[in-house]
Amino acid sequence: MSVHKQELKKITTHQLQEMKNRGEKIAMLTAYDYSMAKIIDGTGIDVILVGDSASNVMAGHETTLPITLDQMIYHAASVVRAVKRALVVVDLPFGTYQGSSGEALRSAIRIMKEAGAHAVKLEGGSEIKDSVERILSAGIPVMGHLGLTPQSIYKFGTYTVRAKEEEEANKLMKDAKLLQDCGCFGIVLEKIPATLAKKVSLSLHIPTIGIGAGPDVDGQVLVMQDMLGINKEFKPRFLRRYADLHAVITEAVVHYVSDVKAKEFPSEEEKY
Ligand code: KIV
Repeated sequence: MSVHKQELKKITTHQLQEMKNRGEKIAMLTAYDYSMAKIIDGTGIDVILVGDSASNVMAGHETTLPITLDQMIYHAASVVRAVKRALVVVDLPFGTYQGSSGEALRSAIRIMKEAGAHAVKLEGGSEIKDSVERILSAGIPVMGHLGLTPQSIYKFGTYTVRAKEEEEANKLMKDAKLLQDCGCFGIVLEKIPATLAKKVSLSLHIPTIGIGAGPDVDGQVLVMQDMLGINKEFKPRFLRRYADLHAVITEAVVHYVSDVKAKEFPSEEEKY
């Protein structure tokens, strides 16, 4: 008797490339825990990013800088346990890849081995070329991240749109080409003018994934807590809210508190 295992199609970096080739947009969202990752993996999402935005939305820090490699591995391992289909990309946190290419490789290997991730993402261009190449040489897929790179917030001083001036736009174009030539399988373009994002996307053969980069990129990414309306304070122009979970959760919890106080929960049917 033979056992037929149902084939579950997993998303690979090659499939993302094929999506770009045939003009199919790539959908990417962040997740940081098992329960949410399980829900979004079941929707047909292509890529789940365990972003270092966990530092903001999960831990309440003002920036992404404080999150550690151990904490990223904890979040990533929880996500990987839930995911059956999507490609899971994990951010290398600040301070774990800029020092030397050897350190970058050790950090990436820990993420792959201890969390079971499928790829890593690093912020920056020419400055981190050696780290990107070293990680790729170990067979670990790398995604780049250009434009607004939140790990450099103290250098920029603000979270406003990047690469509006010609000099910075030219550097971004060069960095994108360099990351592609190194062997990155894709690049996140964050908060840059839509015209520049289009130019970059047309000039590259690898996919670009935009956040605040307009429609003419190969895919889109949003932070899940923002697009679900859990986080009310963050309202950039690029953010579309697909739900108001803040209101839904508040209403449910207010109802629960009131039921407990009124001794209406649990009921006869809800007790053993
Ligand atoms: O950390 C993150 O969530 C990210 C996305 C904003 C692309 O890098």
